[in-house]
Amino acid sequence: MAIAAGGVRLLVFCAAGTPDGAPHSIVARERKPAKAGWRAAAARLYTAAFPRGTSRVPEPSTRAMTERTFSIIKPDATARNLTGKINAVIEDAGLRIVAQRRIKMSRQQAEKFYEVHKERPFYGELVEYMTSGPVVVQVLEGDNAVAKYREVMGATNPAQAAEGTIRKLFAESIQNNSVHGSDSQDNAKLEIAQFFKDEDIAG
Ligand code: CMP
Repeated sequence: MAIAAGGVRLLVFCAAGTPDGAPHSIVARERKPAKAGWRAAAARLYTAAFPRGTSRVPEPSTRAMTERTFSIIKPDATARNLTGKINAVIEDAGLRIVAQRRIKMSRQQAEKFYEVHKERPFYGELVEYMTSGPVVVQVLEGDNAVAKYREVMGATNPAQAAEGTIRKLFAESIQNNSVHGSDSQDNAKLEIAQFFKDEDIAG
């Protein structure tokens, strides 16, 4: 009896399709037992993360960009023979020094470099200070170099700089703050061009 009743139900099912109207082939696929174990779980996760046709390379917005930034080791630091110690912090942060010159900045160079601060009350003293002794001008290269170097330098005022930053470690005051770094990629290009020719930079 039971076998007969089952046979009738199978006949009705085959004739009418599935209860929810889906074709039999789909039902058959979905009802296959799931692959067992970690391999199947890993395969499901992989498929969920990378559906067919999607790229496995991160989108440009999430990829680190190799950039260049401009750096000055200022007179207060060269006077205390800190060039090597400062550059060790820079290199330990993953930035590469791809151009470097030790120069005595002329008044004209300093005035041009800090022209953006011309109206600020400290402009005159800043120019005096930047021409008071040798400086080391450098080009730094690395992933997100502009932002990374600003992080490594710390706040302009050493009193507000985070532990471990160059200015916290070495700077004397808001003016004698040991290092300069470009504040944007556009300014980095302009500042680099003021002191280096393309052929002087070896990345
Ligand atoms: P830097 O990052 O080279 O940019 C401009 C420089 O001006 C800054 O570092 C300091 O050396 C100097 N500076 C900024 N603010 C002041 C301030 N309030 N008084 C004196 N010097 C300043």
